[in-house]
Amino acid sequence: MMALGRIGRAALAGLLLAIGAAGLIGCEKGAPSGGGGSGGAGGSAGNDESIKVGHYASITGSEATFGQSTDNGIKLAVEERNAAGGVKGRQIKLITYDNQGKQQETTTVVTRLVQQDKVVALLGEVASSRSMAGGPIAQKAGVPMITPSSTNPDVTAIGDMIFRVCFIDPFQGYVGAKFAKDNLGKTRAATLYNRAQAYSDGLNNNFIESFQEMGGTVVTQQAYGDGDNDFSAQLAAIKEANVEFIYVPGYYTEVVNIAKQARKLGLNIPLIGGDGWDSEELKNAGDALDGCYFSNHYAKEDTRPEVQEFIKKYTAKFDSEPDGLAALGYDAARLLFDAMDKAPSLDGQALAAQIAKTKGFAGVTGRITIDADRNANKDAVVLEITNGVPKYVATVPAPTE
Ligand code: PHE
Repeated sequence: MMALGRIGRAALAGLLLAIGAAGLIGCEKGAPSGGGGSGGAGGSAGNDESIKVGHYASITGSEATFGQSTDNGIKLAVEERNAAGGVKGRQIKLITYDNQGKQQETTTVVTRLVQQDKVVALLGEVASSRSMAGGPIAQKAGVPMITPSSTNPDVTAIGDMIFRVCFIDPFQGYVGAKFAKDNLGKTRAATLYNRAQAYSDGLNNNFIESFQEMGGTVVTQQAYGDGDNDFSAQLAAIKEANVEFIYVPGYYTEVVNIAKQARKLGLNIPLIGGDGWDSEELKNAGDALDGCYFSNHYAKEDTRPEVQEFIKKYTAKFDSEPDGLAALGYDAARLLFDAMDKAPSLDGQALAAQIAKTKGFAGVTGRITIDADRNANKDAVVLEITNGVPKYVATVPAPTE
């Protein structure tokens, strides 16, 4: 709850809604136990002189688009940097391992990146629970880690080696509450969250706290576990509760199922959620998510040149439009290279100290200043879904305190 205190309720309450994110480089995926490519010499642009950067991600599994999009964003940043001469005259070699979206696998691949591949820095994870599995390994080994997108406050609290380039969930919960209350005029909510994910559990509480402070009522909280795909009992209870919307701080695979099952039950109220919804797989919901909203880190409609340039380059390379994860992966990698340029050496302590000094870095997802808690204080956007496609509706400015 320290993080909430820091954000400052008064500051939050005062905010207004302003209506209106395997290239050339070695990339070895998977190979969890034993086998597989180990960042060695074979078949990549890296050589003995190259600087190794590790990325651990859910390239497969029920959150596969998280890892894939992030890895694409990172690859684009690495490719651009290498084409421009690399860092300190050396090429960057990206080593990506797939954790399949699993906790245990995360521990395995992060240990491998740190101990065998001896990466100078780590990028990852998306999911807060997996950053909390990888973070302590990075911290203990003295290897700086930047999570592009884990928003739970506990992630960077692991220690002075752990950074993030995204906002945190006390703010994101506030954004959902404020949007529901002020923009949609709703006062009666239910929540439906994953009790097994740090992100979902934390954001559920953050939303509830903000919504109640604004005078809203949370009539019922319903929970599920990892891997669940039948939400009918929880949805039936929510239907009984006679609420105006459901706050769903989950990941996209869950959200798609929840939306479809809700409509089947004749529960036709909006769902509102957070960044965990961000995936092109939302289209699997058909029209079940029409008129639903989620908070996120970037909007494709943003006319800033950084954003439009990035979309152009990414689309040309990957033949698909970048989601928020791709943008955050790109920003995390570029911010890391910037710190590497400026650091006196690539030793873990020196590099971490330099990352900590980052101020006003011009990212695709906004200006990034690393604060004393190694977090980034940034604006959020709210997107509305039509036919599985999110469109920009609002910007909520970062807390000013
Ligand atoms: N913020 C989510 C978490 O901490 C991860 C996420 C970020 C998912 C951005 C999608 C987009 O688990």
